[in-house]
Amino acid sequence: MDKLEELTQEARREHVPVMMDDGMTFLLEYIRDHPGVMKILECGTAVGLSAMKMASVRENITIDTLEVDPDMYQQAVANIQEAELSDRVFVHLTDAALFTTEKYYDLFFIDAAKSQYRMYLEHFWKNSYVGSVFVFDNLNFHGIVDHPEYSENRSTLQMTRKIKKFRDAIQSDDRFEVAWHPEVGDGVLLAKRIR
Ligand SMILES: C[S@@+](CC[C@H](N)C(=O)[O-])C[C@H]1O[C@@H](n2cnc3c(N)ncnc32)[C@H](O)[C@@H]1O
Repeated sequence: MDKLEELTQEARREHVPVMMDDGMTFLLEYIRDHPGVMKILECGTAVGLSAMKMASVRENITIDTLEVDPDMYQQAVANIQEAELSDRVFVHLTDAALFTTEKYYDLFFIDAAKSQYRMYLEHFWKNSYVGSVFVFDNLNFHGIVDHPEYSENRSTLQMTRKIKKFRDAIQSDDRFEVAWHPEVGDGVLLAKRIR
C-alpha cells in the first residue's frame, strides 16, 4: 500500500471526511485526461488527501487548498510537507468564502460546506475563464437528497434541500456544460464554463 493510501485508511479510521474512492478515481482520471489542468483551487482540504492525490497526477500541477478548521489545517500542512509537496500544494487557513485572489484556475474542486455550493461558485466565478471546470462532490449526500425519508435530522434535511436546489439549478444554467454523475462516489458533478 502506498503512503497516500495508508494515510487515507488512517483518516477514515479517525472519521476524517475523505472523498469516496471511486469519486477520487474519477476526478484523478479527469485530471490525467486533461493536460491543460495545471492550476487547481480546492475548497475543503481536510487533511490534504485529495490535494496530494491531485498534485501527484503531474508535476506541473499547483494547488491552492482552503480549510477553515485549524486542526485539519495543521494536519494537512504536516502531511503535505512529509509528502514533499509543499512547493506545489499551498494550504490556506480560511473560510473559503473569504478567500480572494487574482489568480485564474483551470479546475475548482468544491468539497467544503455543502449548503454553500452556489455561493462558492459565484464567489470564484471571477477566477475562472471559459473552459475552467468546477467539480462538486456529495451532490447525493448519502442518498438523502433524493430520499429525504432517510433522515430525520432537521439540519441535514435543510442542507440536502439546498443541495437539490443547487443541483437542479446548475443543470439548467446556460453558463455551463454539465455532466452529472449520480453513480460516482457520493454524486459528482462537473460544470465546464462555456461563456
Ligand atoms: C469533505 S471534507 C474535504 C475532504 C477532502 N477534499 C478530501 O477528499 O481529502 C470537507 C472539509 O471542508 C472543511 N470546510 C467546511 N466548511 C468550510 C469553509 N467554509 N471553508 C473552508 N473549509 C471548510 C471542513 O472542515 C472539512 O475539513
